[in-house]
Amino acid sequence: MFIAQTKAELSSHAQAWQKENLRIALVPTMGSLHEGHLSLVRIAKKQADKVIVSIFVNPTQFGPQEDLAAYPRNEARDRSLCEQEGVDAVFLPTPAEMYAPDASVTLMESTLSKTLCGRTRPSHFQGVLTVVNKLFNIARADVAVFGMKDAQQLAIIRRMVRDLDMPVKIIPAPIVREADGLAMSSRNAYLTPEQRQQALCLRRALDFAEVAWVQGNTPLDPVISKMRTLIEETPGTEIDYINAVDSDTLAPVSKLHAGVLIAVAVKIGHTRLIDNIVLSNTQH
Ligand code: PAJ
Repeated sequence: MFIAQTKAELSSHAQAWQKENLRIALVPTMGSLHEGHLSLVRIAKKQADKVIVSIFVNPTQFGPQEDLAAYPRNEARDRSLCEQEGVDAVFLPTPAEMYAPDASVTLMESTLSKTLCGRTRPSHFQGVLTVVNKLFNIARADVAVFGMKDAQQLAIIRRMVRDLDMPVKIIPAPIVREADGLAMSSRNAYLTPEQRQQALCLRRALDFAEVAWVQGNTPLDPVISKMRTLIEETPGTEIDYINAVDSDTLAPVSKLHAGVLIAVAVKIGHTRLIDNIVLSNTQH
């Protein structure tokens, strides 16, 4: 497995693969890899000849009050997990390698990034889009895999690729969960054992919505209000949002139907967790 620390090293490798007509898949991550990330790698391997995993805790997508300094880092473990999965190259740049000190061009999305997480994280998606676009270019990606765990990020990246005609195919990957239903996340490492139990309320609320949908209860307000109760009755929780939106446009919907994204963001102590479901066609 090739370890690239500079953009030039990764690019020259990718260029050589391109010359051999090999298809390159990129899996962008911020490291502290878990089964969710590894599921993306497995999907990437089916989509391409070579798989590149980038591990970069991108400072520009963290707000001033957010957890950049505390974000978990496990480089040695991440490398060996990538090796075990048969990853072809890992990209481990420093912030100074990624950004010129006087960098002045960024990518901004003006609609989808204003809702859900964008309300409390106003510059987050600008940081994400800019770094993802840089990573596409450096890795010369033909394909890139993104998890549905970050449904808004996925929708905004798809919009970027569409609106800027980027020659990259975006593959969505299902949410990987712990045995008890908690969506895997690097931020779960912040939770105390008690908070880890409290965090199950996100899944409980989403399960309630799913069951309501399958049973044919399509009016939205009673479902959202019961979800709110399920979370609020759990001690130590603070709801950021519970929203039902179209999964492509992220526009609000007025009733449940197939394709609706129900997304929740809840703070458990200082840790902000997100989770979601997309309603499927299997109703009634
Ligand atoms: P990170 O949070 O490390 O996530 C990297 C990728 O793994 C994302 O596509 C995310 O949706 C996916 N992922 C995380 N947890 C998952 C789970 N439980 N099931 C399935 N997929 C999961 O998202 C980022 O990093 C960054 O914003 C990044 C895109 C790398 C840009 O900096």
